[in-house]
Amino acid sequence: MKILMVCLGNICRSPLAEGLLRSKVQNGQLDIETDSAGTAAYHIDEAPDPRTIKTGRTYGIDISDLRGRQFQIEDFDRFDKIYVMDESNYQNVIRLARNQADVNKVDYILNEIEPGSNSEVPDPYYGGDRGFENVYRLLDRATDSIIQKIKDGRKP
Ligand code: 4NP
Repeated sequence: MKILMVCLGNICRSPLAEGLLRSKVQNGQLDIETDSAGTAAYHIDEAPDPRTIKTGRTYGIDISDLRGRQFQIEDFDRFDKIYVMDESNYQNVIRLARNQADVNKVDYILNEIEPGSNSEVPDPYYGGDRGFENVYRLLDRATDSIIQKIKDGRKP
């Protein structure tokens, strides 16, 4: 199972989602590959935002090795599932879909917690540290749910 996490800049939300899933996979020895990307090209090859790195570190998750990249059409072929953080990410990814199979791979990550709600992981970039804590808590729950589904043999 190959899972891609997508946000706007690939320096705040999606690298944290990737880091959380990566750490849970290592703990559970599951056959899951994960990566992240941004729909924008603002932060290509950059490390995650220092506030994101700090938040991860607080919980024992090191994401300092990750680097920003932009989402590309080939990602529909490379990944089984593509999780977006908010509606604008969703629209930006869906706009590149070539067929229904591509569209079907894309979902809001918070639908893992509240199915069908299409709730958004709020963009913390322009806010303070509390925003990053909130993002962490939401993504921790969502990635727990993804891991549980795969352990149970259900498709995320
Ligand atoms: P992210 O947050 O999409 O969670 O990585 C943002 C990072 C950078 C910008 C916006 C959002 N930016 O405008 O540079």
